[in-house]
Amino acid sequence: MLDGRVAFVTGSTRGIGWATARTFASQGAAVIVNGVTSQERVDKRVEEICTEFGVPCIGFLCDVSNPACVRSCYAEIFKKFKRLDVLVNNAGIVQDALLGMISEASIRRQIEVNTMGAIFHLQEAARLMLRNRSGSIINVSSIVGRNGNAGEIVYSASKAALIGLTYSAAKELAPKNIRVNAVAPGFIDTDLTKVLPKDAHAEWSKRVGLGRMGTAQEVANTILFLASDQSSHISGQVVGVDGCLVI
Ligand SMILES: NC(=O)c1ccc[n+]([C@@H]2O[C@H](COP(=O)([O-])OP(=O)(O)OC[C@H]3O[C@@H](n4cnc5c(N)ncnc54)[C@H](OP(=O)(O)O)[C@@H]3O)[C@@H](O)[C@H]2O)c1
Repeated sequence: MLDGRVAFVTGSTRGIGWATARTFASQGAAVIVNGVTSQERVDKRVEEICTEFGVPCIGFLCDVSNPACVRSCYAEIFKKFKRLDVLVNNAGIVQDALLGMISEASIRRQIEVNTMGAIFHLQEAARLMLRNRSGSIINVSSIVGRNGNAGEIVYSASKAALIGLTYSAAKELAPKNIRVNAVAPGFIDTDLTKVLPKDAHAEWSKRVGLGRMGTAQEVANTILFLASDQSSHISGQVVGVDGCLVI
């Protein structure tokens, strides 16, 4: 489905991003992986993709909230591939706190990583995509960005912003044949949710209509659909991947 395409997945050393990077590689794409904490982990992921799928793969240790670092990634991508076909703005963090307990540092960090990081990538990716007048951008928002959740005021604001920017970027870039969509995952089994206490897991799982957590692969499958030509007439949409979760 992605033969010959070049795809950048931010935050792809673990979780939904890693499942997406592997899925893209399995469909023939050259893949760019990214993480923030460990060069060793990034290198390992690059090696795993090259070995398992035999596609070109490079990796960047780069904080999405650092615009200079983001710019240097795209300069490198241009040097190596001369093009970019798909961007998945997936890197994200969550720092839960009730209103009175939210620190200024936590507000800044979540907005910088979840929202500003996505905008920095959107700018650079669109520049490259404009050269070929085609591309697909997928922003990983959250059901919390649509419905809200107690204790996640800043996280929900950062993820709701991704939905707004998806609508606006889709309108701005449609004349250039660049599609922009978002996915809104619900309760997905990754490191991000593993930290929740056992009773919170049980409570959340009960709220999912389908009766279980989603998997990173199930989100990756939806992202693949939006990245590929299977969704060639879809832009400016937010697709829930939440198993009918009620919050
Ligand atoms: N899991 C869920 O239930 C759920 C639900 C809704 C939405 N989401 C969203 O889905 C996305 C992925 O979540 P996940 O559950 O897969 O998370 P995860 O398992 O915690 O993985 C997060 C990934 O993002 C990377 N990352 C974190 N901060 C970064 C930064 N500043 N710059 C670059 N990379 C960074 C991490 O890299 P390192 O390995 O280097 O730390 C890791 O690869 C997030 O945007 C999250 O908000 C998740």
